[in-house]
Amino acid sequence: MDLAGKNVVYLGGFGGIGQKCVQELLQRKLKTLAIFDLTENGDILASWKSENPDTDVFYQKVDITQKSDIEAAYKATTERCGHIDVVVNGSGLMNDRLVELTIQINLLGVINSTLTALEYMDKSKGGKGGLIVNISSVAGLQPTPLMAIYSAAKTGVTTFTRGMSNPIYYAHTGVGFVTICPGFTDTGLLEDIDNKTTFTYHTPMLEMFKKVKRQTAEVCARNLVKAIEQAKNGSVLMLELGETQEIDIPPHWTPKLDI
Ligand SMILES: NC(=O)c1ccc[n+]([C@@H]2O[C@H](COP(=O)([O-])OP(=O)(O)OC[C@H]3O[C@@H](n4cnc5c(N)ncnc54)[C@H](O)[C@@H]3O)[C@@H](O)[C@H]2O)c1
Repeated sequence: MDLAGKNVVYLGGFGGIGQKCVQELLQRKLKTLAIFDLTENGDILASWKSENPDTDVFYQKVDITQKSDIEAAYKATTERCGHIDVVVNGSGLMNDRLVELTIQINLLGVINSTLTALEYMDKSKGGKGGLIVNISSVAGLQPTPLMAIYSAAKTGVTTFTRGMSNPIYYAHTGVGFVTICPGFTDTGLLEDIDNKTTFTYHTPMLEMFKKVKRQTAEVCARNLVKAIEQAKNGSVLMLELGETQEIDIPPHWTPKLDI
């Protein structure tokens, strides 16, 4: 997809990966960039606006655990820019001591944001089709026992997004889906890990976690925006240490029909 002239919504745009993605996206001469996030970063927003006078960059307050916030933000954004071409669901929290919140932000929030966006993007409902990019994780490709709850939520994101990309839905809505699975990326999300693990007792996994190589948020963002430009509906892309790899997840079960 050529991003020039497109209307893009980025959830979590003031976060570590989000800020770098927004900067990368703004180099593509977008028409609109709506940032949905929990709190506004006024200084950064002001600099993005002044450096990109031809793009309508604006903020919408969204607590992704609140369906009413999500609905109001998509409604206001569509009223302002006409239609939405691309959504990146990039909000996130990694803290297994907060079980409900981990599921609410990382999984339920992504589902609610996706379904609300579809109401506006679905070409069978007057939208123009487009692309929804959901940020999962390498922890959404296989269990990460140190963070079993976060891993469960991210696995949910991967499976939900793959389900939404079904060709029957795609033919109906014109909205494609991509799952992005970053490896360890140097942001605030990885800080204070000792107090965020599933269990409070010490395990050797914690020491291993601290030694895992990390990519920078810039490198992750560059590959994420490339993934948007080259999007193939249904793809699951691992963004690890500067490399992008398409992950093939083979089916294990074929339904036997009673005919
Ligand atoms: N950093 C990593 O190693 C890594 C690896 C794989 C996947 N990810 C995923 O990438 C995405 C971005 O993570 P990051 O590393 O930039 O983390 P971050 O903590 O820097 O950013 C998280 C963003 O989510 C927003 N957010 C948190 N709670 C919210 C809520 N209730 N409502 C709305 N927004 C909320 C924050 O305000 C922030 O903008 C997340 O989905 C994360 O799970 C990160």
